[in-house]
Amino acid sequence: MTQSARDISKEIEFPGRKMDFGFDFKDLPRYWNDNDAFKSHFMNALSCLFLEGERMFIDAVRDHQHLVTDKKLQDQVKSFVKQEAIHGHEHHLYSKYLDTLGYPATKIEAFERKEKKLIKKWIPARRRLAITCAIEHFTAILAHQVLTNPEATAGMDPRFKEMWVWHAIEETEHKAVCFDVYEQTGGSYWLRVFAMFNVTWMFLLRTLSVQAIFLWKDGMLFKPSTWKSGFNFFWKKPGLLPSVWSDYKDYYRRDFHPWDHDNRELLDTWLSAHNNFKTV
Ligand SMILES: [Fe+2]
Ligand SMILES: [Fe+2]
Repeated sequence: MTQSARDISKEIEFPGRKMDFGFDFKDLPRYWNDNDAFKSHFMNALSCLFLEGERMFIDAVRDHQHLVTDKKLQDQVKSFVKQEAIHGHEHHLYSKYLDTLGYPATKIEAFERKEKKLIKKWIPARRRLAITCAIEHFTAILAHQVLTNPEATAGMDPRFKEMWVWHAIEETEHKAVCFDVYEQTGGSYWLRVFAMFNVTWMFLLRTLSVQAIFLWKDGMLFKPSTWKSGFNFFWKKPGLLPSVWSDYKDYYRRDFHPWDHDNRELLDTWLSAHNNFKTV
C-alpha cells in the first residue's frame, strides 16, 4: 500500500547542516551557469532575494509555533528554522561575492530588509504564513528541477552546483513544514490559494527585476542574444515553465499536500554521498 502524503510528512527528519562554500574564490567565472549571462543572473537574482525571504519564513512560522501541539511537527519547525537560517547566511556570503563583481547585491538585500519590516508590521501573521507556504512550494518545485533535470545544472561551475544542490535537498526535506503548520493551525483553503496567486506574480516580477539590474550592469540587458537565451531557458523544450507547470498547478487542489509528490529517493541518494556534515 502506498503511504499517504501526510504519513510521509510525519516521518521526515532532517538536521540543520553547517556549510562552508567559501565564496571568496578569485577564479570563479562571472557567467558560472553554462557560460550564459541570462542563466547565471537568474540564479544570482534568486540567491540575492533569499536572505530576507527566508527570514520572513522563519518569522511567519515562529508566530504560529505556540499553536502547534504535535510534538513531531514542533521538532520539524525547529529544524526548519535552522536550515533556513543557514541558507540565509550562505546566500548573504554569495551576495557579498556578487558585490565584489560590481553588482549591487547587498544593497538589494538592504532594500528587501526594509520591505520585510513593513510586511511584518502590516500583514497579519496568518497571511504571512500563507505567503510563506506558497513560496515554499515554489522553492520545492524549483529544487526538484535542480535535482532531477540534468539540463538545469549541466553547465554550472561545480562549486556553485554543490551549493545549489545542497539548498535544493534541504528545500525538499522541509517542503511540508510550513504547510503542515498552516493546516494544523486552521489555515483556510481560500487564503492559501489566494496567496499563491499573488505570490506567483510577485515572485516572477521580483526575480526578473533583480536579474534585469544585473544584466544592465553588464551591458547585456538589451542584447538580442540575452533574450534569446531567456526564451530558451523559460520555454524551449524542456524549458523551466513547462517543466514546473504540473507541480505548480497541483497547489490549487483542495486536498493538496506537498508530499503528494513523493521524491524522497532524491534525498537518500544525496545523503548516502554526503554524510560528513557538521549538524546544528
Ligand atoms: Fe531555504
Ligand atoms: Fe525553505
